[in-house]
Amino acid sequence: MSTQDGLKLVERDESGVDTAFRADILDGLSQDQKAAPARWLYDDAGSQLFEDITQLPEYYPTRAETDILSTRGEEFAAMIGAGRAVVEFGSGSSVKTPLLLSAIAPAAYVPLDISGDFLRAAAEELAGKFPGLPVYPVEADFMRMVELPSEVAAMPKLGFFPGSTIGNMVARTAVDLLRNMRETLGVGAKLLIGMDLIKDEDVLVAAYDDSAGVTAEFNYNLVRRINRELDGDIPLDALKHEARWNDDYARVEMHLNAQRDIDFTVSGRSFAMKAGESIHTENSHKFNRRTSNMLLLAAGWEPQARWLDSKNRFSLMLAEARPPRSAP
Ligand code: AVJ
Repeated sequence: MSTQDGLKLVERDESGVDTAFRADILDGLSQDQKAAPARWLYDDAGSQLFEDITQLPEYYPTRAETDILSTRGEEFAAMIGAGRAVVEFGSGSSVKTPLLLSAIAPAAYVPLDISGDFLRAAAEELAGKFPGLPVYPVEADFMRMVELPSEVAAMPKLGFFPGSTIGNMVARTAVDLLRNMRETLGVGAKLLIGMDLIKDEDVLVAAYDDSAGVTAEFNYNLVRRINRELDGDIPLDALKHEARWNDDYARVEMHLNAQRDIDFTVSGRSFAMKAGESIHTENSHKFNRRTSNMLLLAAGWEPQARWLDSKNRFSLMLAEARPPRSAP
């Protein structure tokens, strides 16, 4: 049965359990390396905790990206040009989107989000700040192909995907998404995408294991959610948050490490963890110039410009959707 949850369509069974959540968690807990898809971290409490994370001294990406957006407006205007429909994948945060929109004189703004609540809030806020700018919110899962409103069909497009959210995805998923974006936006479209940079391991790990423990709470919130919504009894006191740099894959991984042998049940199924085993809960891939170019090119996006913040911690890449051309 489909029910409205906010405006988000969620499949729930007779007892009100989100069936996709249960399937993902039971699958993930059955693997050798236990894992949970990172999207389940972002319930209301998790989304609020992520907002808190962006304010932490150790968590530099939000500040670094905002630094680029607030200082490079003239270059964006020169390279992107006026009159584009800006299509934002994931609803605009209150700070970043206005910086872009006021720099480039767009013809329309199209926020895409899976959550109707966030979408309406973002659309209203933007419309208030930019009177005269047409805003066409679209409630959709941006991981799939999206049909854009007919009003923007004839306009050249700029995709905007800030926050290094692309780094949450493993390469094959990231390429699928970037190709879908190219199909959605059309030939000649541009894409402005945030990609966090590879840097000192200490700095990276601290950004995901802050001294105030907010990121740990963000990770623990997933366990609380499993116990509450899936009738689980995972002993939270036996799990410890870890941010782990995986150098082969150039990513920070969040794990929940078992401090002792534990047994627990979730939705009536039994699981066990030995001390030292973990549940892998999130990836945050980091890039350099070559790997960010490669990822974009693999999905048919030609890199055109790259901007870094003043401390060289974070990159904003501009790319163009090019038709395939013959090349050796
Ligand atoms: C929202 C995916 C960009 O990976 O940096 C922050 C999420 N997780 N701290 C990131 C996150 C732990 C964040 N993104």
